[in-house]
Amino acid sequence: MVRAGSVITLEAPAKINLTLEILGKRPDGYHELRSIVMPVSLTDTLTLTSTYAQTALTLTVGPGVDATKIGAVDRNLAVRAARLMQERYRINAGARIHIHKRIPIGGGLGGGSADAAGVLLGLNALWELARPREELMALGADLGSDVPALVHGGAVLMEGRGERVSGLFGDRPPAGCEGFWLVLANPGVMCPTPDVFRKWRGGLTASPSILHNMTSSIRISDVSAAADALYNGLQPGVFESYPDVAQTAAQLQEAGCLGVLLSGSGASVFGLVRDEVHGQEVSRRLGSGLWHVLVRTCPVV
Ligand code: C5P
Repeated sequence: MVRAGSVITLEAPAKINLTLEILGKRPDGYHELRSIVMPVSLTDTLTLTSTYAQTALTLTVGPGVDATKIGAVDRNLAVRAARLMQERYRINAGARIHIHKRIPIGGGLGGGSADAAGVLLGLNALWELARPREELMALGADLGSDVPALVHGGAVLMEGRGERVSGLFGDRPPAGCEGFWLVLANPGVMCPTPDVFRKWRGGLTASPSILHNMTSSIRISDVSAAADALYNGLQPGVFESYPDVAQTAAQLQEAGCLGVLLSGSGASVFGLVRDEVHGQEVSRRLGSGLWHVLVRTCPVV
């Protein structure tokens, strides 16, 4: 985060779900989740400018982003995050929000949530509110299920409908934990999250081994073990309903990834690779016909 007077610039990372267990349907219509989430080095860059003379919130997005895809300004998650900050802390100032968008919109990589989390963290600094991270996470839960995890940052265990978030390793990174390299790919179709959850028909997957195996793979940076431990309960339904997504996963597998998984509710998929050089080989094999990018996970704590 870089501050220059009334302007703050920050990177808002995308996320992947290395595991996503659906434990059942809740009375409020949401689903009870248990998921290991990690941010990755694909980011949107946010520039937040405080406008002390007026309280309006404005949004610009670039470059080359289809404005119809980000929806009406007042429904945009980043703007709603700023409004929540204004209301909660009675702020008599406005903000200009500019988002340099790199995370695919509606792609299961938490792009909208990343921007909202960035606005909460950025305005907390810009307006010198000094609110603790836990309080911003609670605010984020009202905006979307992935926002608290991205406000927290690092490798987290996400539970409930997404609002219960804790660091996978507490506040201290395990020694020797270097994270993973992976290739993200997106077939350019939309899988609306509510539809994907509505179609979920899987049985209960409360298996302690899913959580345990992935946590220990991350702890010792064992990418082969992590590839074996990948799990997403939404994947079978998405592959069945959206053949382009299944096809993209098959392409990543054929290009040599160690393990491939749907991210969140899709449509993006990711493939774990051994290291940067292996990732570059996979990228070359994928060619230019499919949107893809080589990234690494952000530090775990
Ligand atoms: O909270 P968020 O806006 O990200 O959720 C989008 C939709 O995904 C919800 O309206 C709901 O249909 C579905 N969802 C769910 N259970 C969750 C998270 C999301 O059913 N834990």
